[in-house]
Amino acid sequence: MTPEAIEKIEVDLLLEALRRRFGYDFSHYSSEYVHRRLRDCLSHCHLTHISEIIPRLLYDRLFLETLIGRLTVTTTALFRDPTAYIALLEQVFPLLATYPFFNIWHAGCSTGEEVYSLAILLEEAGLYDRCRIYATDINGAALEQAREGVYPVARLEDSGKNYLLAGGRYQLCNWFHARYDLARFDPQLTRNVLFSQHNLATDGVFAETHLILCRNVLIYFDSTLQNRVLDLFHESLDLGGFLILGAQETLRFSGVHDCFVTVSEKEKLWRKRHQGLVTA
Ligand SMILES: C[S@@+](CC[C@H](N)C(=O)[O-])C[C@H]1O[C@@H](n2cnc3c(N)ncnc32)[C@H](O)[C@@H]1O
Repeated sequence: MTPEAIEKIEVDLLLEALRRRFGYDFSHYSSEYVHRRLRDCLSHCHLTHISEIIPRLLYDRLFLETLIGRLTVTTTALFRDPTAYIALLEQVFPLLATYPFFNIWHAGCSTGEEVYSLAILLEEAGLYDRCRIYATDINGAALEQAREGVYPVARLEDSGKNYLLAGGRYQLCNWFHARYDLARFDPQLTRNVLFSQHNLATDGVFAETHLILCRNVLIYFDSTLQNRVLDLFHESLDLGGFLILGAQETLRFSGVHDCFVTVSEKEKLWRKRHQGLVTA
């Protein structure tokens, strides 16, 4: 048996232990990704074989958070892909403005930068008070940071420029208070935000939504899980509701493709079809 085949057995056993012990199902993440992340976990924990992670996981309750942290990539940024925000401002905000009240779901919000970015644009457009924002992620530590809204100033270096490119009307520094090397975002930006743990691989729909942002999350999933998640979004979205994905993600090959109308292929923006909605 090759070392690769043995490693596959170890990974399968570990994922089975994780699922049976704690209910987290990573079996439909891309296998190359899972192997890479687990090898990274080995060096972090000073272990040699992936199977050595199993007893740590089964008997050390605190290790779960470490493993989830290692199995998820939380890279994010304020106003990441600024033109996607322009698409939201131009194509989605005018429709949201016609509702007395609307719900937004950030699925896979990581440490929250995407949530603060959209909240700022909603405030500047005078729409914030009409919305409830659900910000969810599988990674509890990332959500904790999202709730606090405190980021190293060094991480905000390009953000001021991207804020303007994304359609920001003033200056980004109006929205945070910097002290030494940390910046705290205005807590008012999260007054309508509900941060909570939600696992796209196993959990269900919890609200009817009008806009879902799920950017740079599906890339880590295999096609079975991508389809599950897209079905979930289709079920959650109100008729005519919008879905925006990450730059490398698409609805095109999914089972729900025909249930959506493309608003912008370039900005990965779709709208749930309803009777009479032929083009967006
Ligand atoms: C690369 S970050 C993307 C953050 C943000 N959406 C962005 O585009 O900047 C991917 C996020 O997806 C989350 N994630 C991975 N698997 C998930 C799952 N099954 N359910 C919910 N969130 C998940 C990770 O914890 C991570 O925070």
